[in-house]
Amino acid sequence: MRSRTLDGPFGVEFYDVDVSRMTDGELAEAAVAQNANGVVFFRGQELDCAQHIAFANRWGDIVVNRFFERVEGYPQIAMVRKEPWHRTVVGETWHTDHSYDAEPARGSILYAREIPSRGGDTLFANMYMAYEALSPGLRRTLESLNAVHTSAHVFSTEAVQTFEEGDDRYHSGERAVQRSVHPVVIRHPSSGRKALYVNPDFTTQFEGWTVEESRPLLDYLHRHSTRDEFVVRFSWQRGTIAFWDNRAVMHKAANDYPTERRLMHRITLSGCALRGTGAE
Ligand code: SIN
Repeated sequence: MRSRTLDGPFGVEFYDVDVSRMTDGELAEAAVAQNANGVVFFRGQELDCAQHIAFANRWGDIVVNRFFERVEGYPQIAMVRKEPWHRTVVGETWHTDHSYDAEPARGSILYAREIPSRGGDTLFANMYMAYEALSPGLRRTLESLNAVHTSAHVFSTEAVQTFEEGDDRYHSGERAVQRSVHPVVIRHPSSGRKALYVNPDFTTQFEGWTVEESRPLLDYLHRHSTRDEFVVRFSWQRGTIAFWDNRAVMHKAANDYPTERRLMHRITLSGCALRGTGAE
């Protein structure tokens, strides 16, 4: 497979492989790149829904998103859709998919079906790098903390009503009841590296701290994690796949293509309970 590193601190794209026909060796090569980078990209794919699902299944089990609309006939595929009249885009603030779950999604495979004539990039923030750049003192403090992640304030029926009048992209708000506690610094289950695991959308407080007490430190960590030196900005073409590891990167979608349509298909892979770093 031919590949190139992105112009930025991390990220690799493969541009001459058909993911529906990858060999086991190519898959292993992509896995190594993803472990090292947190996100990999595959350009120029022509996949139908069944092929998208088959590609995802080679990496693990699929977890169905509870809140996004689904592709008809393929409930495993969530639609990430913006119509010309929408003012907001799905996932436009920094987040980590499904961090509100007890076993948060391992990864997400986003496939670009329709992209705007300009804009519509996705930004990724590397949470290994963010962790490693903190001072030893703050790293030690954070390693002793857990944080609470919830979905209700983002996806409940009440929350979605405040989004945009007539917005039909989110469903099943009554299912937004998840509340999970995860270590603030995790030991990545595959790479073994330490990563910061808090995100602006879903992390509400440190365990045992009030929301008010938690806010200043969480705000600092969010500002720190999204500094330019830890962020890549990825430009899509129709047919590109991004496959990111939610335990290594956060992401957000740029909302900069008013009056245009963008349609992505997303499959999310199931994960495991996250472990902290332990006493070291
Ligand atoms: C997402 O948050 O999963 C979607 C990101 C994007 O559409 O770029």
